[in-house]
Amino acid sequence: MSTLVVVGSQWGDEGKGKITDYLAQNADVVVRSQGGNNAGHTISFGGEKFALRSIPSGIFSPHIKNVMANGMVIDPKQMLEELEGLEARGIKDYQLFISNRAHIVLPYHRLLDGAFEQFKGDKKIGTTKRGIGPAYADKANRIGIRIADLIDPELFKIALSDTLKIKNMELKMVGEEPLDFNSIYNEYKEYGQRIKKYVCDTSELLESEIEKGSKVLFEGAQGVMLCIDHGTYPYVTSSSPTAASVPLNAGIAPRYINNVLGICKAYTTRVGEGPFPTEIEGDLANYIRERGHEYGTVTKRPRRVGYLDAVALNYARRVSGINYLSLMLFDVLSGLEELKICYAYEIDGKVVKTMPATLKELENAKPMYVTLPGFKEDITNVKSFDELPENAKLYIKKVEELTNTKVAMFSVGPDRLQTIKLIEIF
Ligand code: GDP
Ligand code: IMO
Ligand code: MG
Repeated sequence: MSTLVVVGSQWGDEGKGKITDYLAQNADVVVRSQGGNNAGHTISFGGEKFALRSIPSGIFSPHIKNVMANGMVIDPKQMLEELEGLEARGIKDYQLFISNRAHIVLPYHRLLDGAFEQFKGDKKIGTTKRGIGPAYADKANRIGIRIADLIDPELFKIALSDTLKIKNMELKMVGEEPLDFNSIYNEYKEYGQRIKKYVCDTSELLESEIEKGSKVLFEGAQGVMLCIDHGTYPYVTSSSPTAASVPLNAGIAPRYINNVLGICKAYTTRVGEGPFPTEIEGDLANYIRERGHEYGTVTKRPRRVGYLDAVALNYARRVSGINYLSLMLFDVLSGLEELKICYAYEIDGKVVKTMPATLKELENAKPMYVTLPGFKEDITNVKSFDELPENAKLYIKKVEELTNTKVAMFSVGPDRLQTIKLIEIF
């Protein structure tokens, strides 16, 4: 049995796409099990760069089975456009399997996402406005529409006409025009027919693959600090990006999950609103933002930047069962005089080493830092731990010490080849 869960251990955009693609060179199956096209996973190899949204990062290898599992919310229109975009770039030979139980995102979800954000004013979440929250809300409210309904015109007609009555009332409440049943039905019925050939019971497929010894990689989206249960609520997404969510969201036995690789930038970023204790501004933030090209893959928003936060990482390790880390964008830190890592927060005069639950405490949290000497050398061509400058080695050791987790890999550039493996975990 060989499975590995790749999870974002911060606030998303840690480099999950890059590492999934790298590890996929050695995988038979790649699975997305939560979120939707709020994700933006960048993959670079052979001089080409791709930004995937809802399609799993194994799509580039014809032998890999790519699974979009039941826990996802899939926007059929966007997903088909994404596939067309890949095909236009020569990615034509792929295997894709979509769960019949995944929920779909419809135009009213996107409209409501935008309208709720506007209503919230300065309390807005800063969502990607892809309708993800409203789609998960409908799922919980038992008025969601699933892939199995979408691909059957009769079932889709009933489901959409029932749900649209409620959604049009909601749209009216937020000052939007009601949507026309026929135009959504006709457009999405077509998408359903185009998607149909990919649809199956992906839980059954995954069980049989795992039982026969296939190597299965679970590609998390978002990050633990954006988890609906464990993140900085309410500034979170609407699904759980933790490893614990994988069995539920992929329909597999929990005992199939052993190893969890937390993807972690050598610093921290966050896009959207919400608490971020180690956030920095000014020249240093700009230096990191420009070197790391820290602008959103999906929304192009500049990402907020900060020091590495070992309090948040330790918390992510605990709630998501992370047993290895992959330290990403390490090259970005070259040229800095000193490097800092937050090891505790001071909140109202108390030293705190666990993540507080309330926004009030998080907003009052003053990070306490260990300061390490920086390194000047360009490390983008480094091929082993030994080739790293001494101060860079020291930084990795400190990360391991403060997070109680082994660094199994590190990354020194966006390309697939700029990845250094220290421990074999997959
Ligand atoms: P994901 O959502 O976790 O897959 O991450 P994103 O793709 O949204 O953001 C990560 C960004 O960092 C992308 O632009 C990657 O190409 C880039 N990247 C990944 N690893 C490295 C690295 O080690 N160094 C540099 N400079 N860029 C990297
Ligand atoms: P990947 O997989 C970074 C953030 C949004 C917002 C909050 C809620 O690329 O790491 P949503 O649209 O999900 O309702 O937005 O979550 N967010 C992400 N931030 N990376 C992501 O995905 C994200 N997906 C959602 O910016 O703050
Ligand atoms: Mg991203």
